[in-house]
Amino acid sequence: MKFTIPHVVATLVVVGAWFWILPPLWWVKSISSMDLTDPVGAGATVVNKYECRSCHQIGGEGGTQGGPSLDGVTWRTNAVILRLWLREPRAIVLGNRMPDFDLSGGEIEAIVAYLTALDAKRP
Ligand code: HEC
Repeated sequence: MKFTIPHVVATLVVVGAWFWILPPLWWVKSISSMDLTDPVGAGATVVNKYECRSCHQIGGEGGTQGGPSLDGVTWRTNAVILRLWLREPRAIVLGNRMPDFDLSGGEIEAIVAYLTALDAKRP
């Protein structure tokens, strides 16, 4: 059988669809900008990157621009609402001042892991 251009195209489409729909873990790890073995550390990095502390007190630091303190937030807010806050702040409180950072699912999980770790250390 001859291997023709349509075969090459079909192969690329199938491999592309595979990586898109069900990416193998080694591939996800190689393209991820986060350290997947350390979600808490990754969360700290994300929080610094988006400067959440410019508005929120986190771990006793920051919070000069009027956002509520996030210390204890994983105790007082349920897990679903917390993730929804990060995904789309205005879906919860219409017109609130928190910017939509267009966070990825991985960034959201990392932030939640970081906030949870901070709250676990609180007395
Ligand atoms: C420009 C200021 C601002 C920045 C920057 C900001 N937020 Fe907010 N955030 C707010 C305000 C204001 C609220 C409360 C809105 C309300 O209750 O109406 C809020 C609410 C929240 C809540 C819900 C708090 C609760 O008690 O239910 C979470 C969680 C949160 N922010 C996380 C973050 C994270 C994580 C970042 C960084 C990625 C961030 N915010 C960046 C202003 C900000």
